[in-house]
Amino acid sequence: MNIDKVLSFVSKEEINKNALLAKQCNEALHKGMGKGNDFLGWLNLPSSITDSQIKDIEETAKRFRDKCEIVVVVGIGGSYLGARAVIEALSSSFDWLQRDRKSPVIVYAGNNIGEDYMSELMALLVGRSFGIINISKSGTTTEPALAFRILKGELESVVGKDEAKQRIVAITDAARGALHTLAKQEGYKMYVIPDDVGGRYSVLTPVGLLPIAIAGIDIKELISGAVFMEKNTTPDVPFEKNLSEIYAVTRNELYKKGKKIEILANFTPKLHFVAEWWKQLYGESEGKEHKGIFNASVDFTTDLHSMGQWIQEGERSIFETVISIANPANTVHIPADNEDLDGLNYLRGRRVDYVNKMAELGTQLAHVDGGVPNIKVELPELTPYYLGQLLYFFEKACGISGYILGVNPFDQPGVEAYKKNMFALLNKPGFEKENEEIQKRL
Ligand code: PA5
Repeated sequence: MNIDKVLSFVSKEEINKNALLAKQCNEALHKGMGKGNDFLGWLNLPSSITDSQIKDIEETAKRFRDKCEIVVVVGIGGSYLGARAVIEALSSSFDWLQRDRKSPVIVYAGNNIGEDYMSELMALLVGRSFGIINISKSGTTTEPALAFRILKGELESVVGKDEAKQRIVAITDAARGALHTLAKQEGYKMYVIPDDVGGRYSVLTPVGLLPIAIAGIDIKELISGAVFMEKNTTPDVPFEKNLSEIYAVTRNELYKKGKKIEILANFTPKLHFVAEWWKQLYGESEGKEHKGIFNASVDFTTDLHSMGQWIQEGERSIFETVISIANPANTVHIPADNEDLDGLNYLRGRRVDYVNKMAELGTQLAHVDGGVPNIKVELPELTPYYLGQLLYFFEKACGISGYILGVNPFDQPGVEAYKKNMFALLNKPGFEKENEEIQKRL
């Protein structure tokens, strides 16, 4: 990580002055002495996962890989974004159209209530062998419950109830919730989301690991990257080497200076869902008590042609964190052209990534000149190992950052507000009073 391009906005001294605070916040996490301390199970997840747990996940993944052309991952928020972030980062951008696929196509449901989406998904599944991973910690979330009811019915009608049981896995609470009851009753294979791990911190539990393994991605490598970062962000690692502490302090110092919006930028569309995962992680962890940085994201260079103007010259309330991939996995050279009508011969023989890197550097300089501080997070390569590092780095920094801000980074009380209104409007049993109240406002 490089914060040099922040230092004209926030001085090194200002950052170092907060080293002790970051250390205390990190220690509060490890000692379980801060807010939300019943949700700290994620801290040691990478190093505590056992070989037999991994083997079990891999065996279930193999069953799905053998049986299914398509696997539908049902879940919303923390119950699907981590898996999707890793799968999309490490799969072909044209996954659907790959010849000789070795892994099922992973599709997602239960993360919206769009009727067209559901209907199009059902149409896609006709005549194809499919399975379902149903993920909900509470087991009561409406969006995934609705999608699962529809998908389960379809699967059972095509393959019969007994075979459907082989193609459905539930990932949910150890003891509570409608999904737990249903899974027990139906005899589905079940994985547990530990009580002390909140949805948005659950990517390194079966919530993320099972779909990722089904997609053919090496989960051991992912975990070993996360273990590396777990070890390198403990409170005994000095502040100047502790990337999560530095990031947490830097973003809070920028926030104090009026930089209220953090934009996570990438220069490869493969990272689009890493940003979606990151937005939930930080937005849901810090946006409370009428404070917290607003989390936004952009895919560059695509969005330089849409949001670039705003970022360069709009209100100066933003800073950027760029995830940069040093070496892409593949190589494409720019060919020479005799006519050179497009004027690109000056780039002949160069890699496409060379152009991308110059765009990245040019953008960084322009944005810093325009008053946008820039934090750079560089991954040597986009691999399971480095992605594992990145996920844990952001999780750890989020816990520290939330404590620096003074909020509980592990709850999400505000998420309930829309649900209460929706249930009232839907006449859900138990919401009669709320329904009366809301009718008066319409
Ligand atoms: O981070 C969280 O806790 C939330 O975003 C949840 O993951 C999301 O609301 C889904 O909840 P559940 O897994 O209970 O269906």
